[in-house]
Amino acid sequence: MDIKTGKILVTGGASGMGRHFVLSLARDGADVAFCDLGADAVAAVESEAAARGLPGKVKGFVANVAKEEEVVSVVKDAAAALGGLNGIINNAGIIRDGLLVKVDKETGAVIKFPLAKWQQVLDVNLTGVFLGAREFAAYAIENKVKQGVIISISSISRHGNQGQGNYSAAKAAIVADTALWAAELARYGIRTGAIAPGFTRTPILEGMPPEALAKVCAPVPLKRIGEPEEMYLAVKFILENDYFTGRVIDVDGGLRLS
Ligand SMILES: NC(=O)c1ccc[n+]([C@@H]2O[C@H](COP(=O)([O-])OP(=O)(O)OC[C@H]3O[C@@H](n4cnc5c(N)ncnc54)[C@H](O)[C@@H]3O)[C@@H](O)[C@H]2O)c1
Repeated sequence: MDIKTGKILVTGGASGMGRHFVLSLARDGADVAFCDLGADAVAAVESEAAARGLPGKVKGFVANVAKEEEVVSVVKDAAAALGGLNGIINNAGIIRDGLLVKVDKETGAVIKFPLAKWQQVLDVNLTGVFLGAREFAAYAIENKVKQGVIISISSISRHGNQGQGNYSAAKAAIVADTALWAAELARYGIRTGAIAPGFTRTPILEGMPPEALAKVCAPVPLKRIGEPEEMYLAVKFILENDYFTGRVIDVDGGLRLS
């Protein structure tokens, strides 16, 4: 795909990596729609894009990727706003960390990881990706889109990161589904791809004290966190390379967890 012909929906586009993908795609000439949870955050990214005078259109929507009816609507609304849609970046994600069970040091009581926190992460990070991929694929087939691309943001935690049982499960599943959706959807001209970032400079990490950040960087072979633009380069590669489908690109400075 030529990025300049891109009409792409980014989920979770109001912060961090998603925001960077929105602004970079528009900078490179694609028309971009994005969704996120809060109206103010969505409006702020639209204003930022307008202030920068980017060549691509940027249109934001409020939608929760864990809610079926909202994903159904936002795919239709994004296509209407951009005059078509040929890509989706399933980026929205949350963390709710904790061990499967832990023992209270004082009482000896076994504390179980709450089902609600397990479910919240699966709802956003996995069901959200499923709904985005499904609605985009249905739209692309119904509208005879010639070259469609589904990109999903996994994580280095896909290999299993202690304290992230919910998050690791979702991020591993994304990679499995990216491969099988490639096989299911190739006949319709739709490609898939995933990116598994390592620690990346987004608001969560920006707020860390320098000593905590140094600890995060120590085991990384390249001794630093990744930049959102470095993740965008992988997104761009998947969009532009028409022989790429079904695979995941690890962009993690060479770090291996577990
Ligand atoms: N930052 C990292 O180090 C890192 C590393 C690996 C993977 N990731 C993944 O990259 C993606 C982006 O992460 P980030 O660090 O930019 O996080 P972030 O918190 O800065 O941005 C995530 C965005 O998603 C939105 N969001 C959350 N739940 C949503 C929902 N239900 N519906 C719609 N939007 C929702 C949030 O409001 C936020 O704007 C996530 O999938 C994350 O798991 C991040």
